[in-house]
Amino acid sequence: MQSKNKLFGHPVHPLLIVIPLGLFVATMIIDTVYLFTLNSLLPAVSFFNIAIGVLGGLLAALFGFLDWSVIPLNTRAKSIGAWHGIGNVVVVVMFALSWWLRSTSVNFEPTQTALVLSYSAIVLGVVTAWMGGELVFRLNVGVDDGAHLNASSSLSDTPARNRAGRASMGNKQARAKR
Ligand code: HEM
Repeated sequence: MQSKNKLFGHPVHPLLIVIPLGLFVATMIIDTVYLFTLNSLLPAVSFFNIAIGVLGGLLAALFGFLDWSVIPLNTRAKSIGAWHGIGNVVVVVMFALSWWLRSTSVNFEPTQTALVLSYSAIVLGVVTAWMGGELVFRLNVGVDDGAHLNASSSLSDTPARNRAGRASMGNKQARAKR
């Protein structure tokens, strides 16, 4: 079932999720390097990463919710989508809390609680990201109706079930040979 919220022919939600996912994973790596090196510049990097990640996450969640809201009731996709959405909102809130704790300390140094929150959010995020993959690759959510290996470009006005120019010529030739 295809998304109605698209940019350049592709759903907006998967375009936006790279912002929180990338920045949250980068925060985990930077925090880990900080714990080993105690380089005093690193906490500020994590602090600003989380701020932008949380804002990007809220925007991504809005588009995810719009896509989820039109999934028919009483389907596995509706319930996996609900768990995926709730779980990801919890991930964003956990990072927001971690950010708030960091904002109150000198040089944005993360407290133990701030670190526990952000590391745990990453673990939860792995589970919810799997659910996102399940929605797309198993349950067909966000995939153009009739998508196939020789579909026409998303930038064209034709539906995905149509064949791209070269492929359709190839098929016509193949049929003519038979
Ligand atoms: C910041 C929070 C979120 C993140 C990081 C996130 C992440 C993801 C990921 C990784 C996918 C799979 C995309 C792919 O593999 O191409 C996905 C798909 C999806 N997510 Fe989320 N998600 C978030 C919030 C939400 C929310 C709040 C909802 C609403 C309930 C939601 C609904 C969906 C739906 C319906 C899909 C299927 C693809 C689509 O329709 O665009 N997501 N999400």
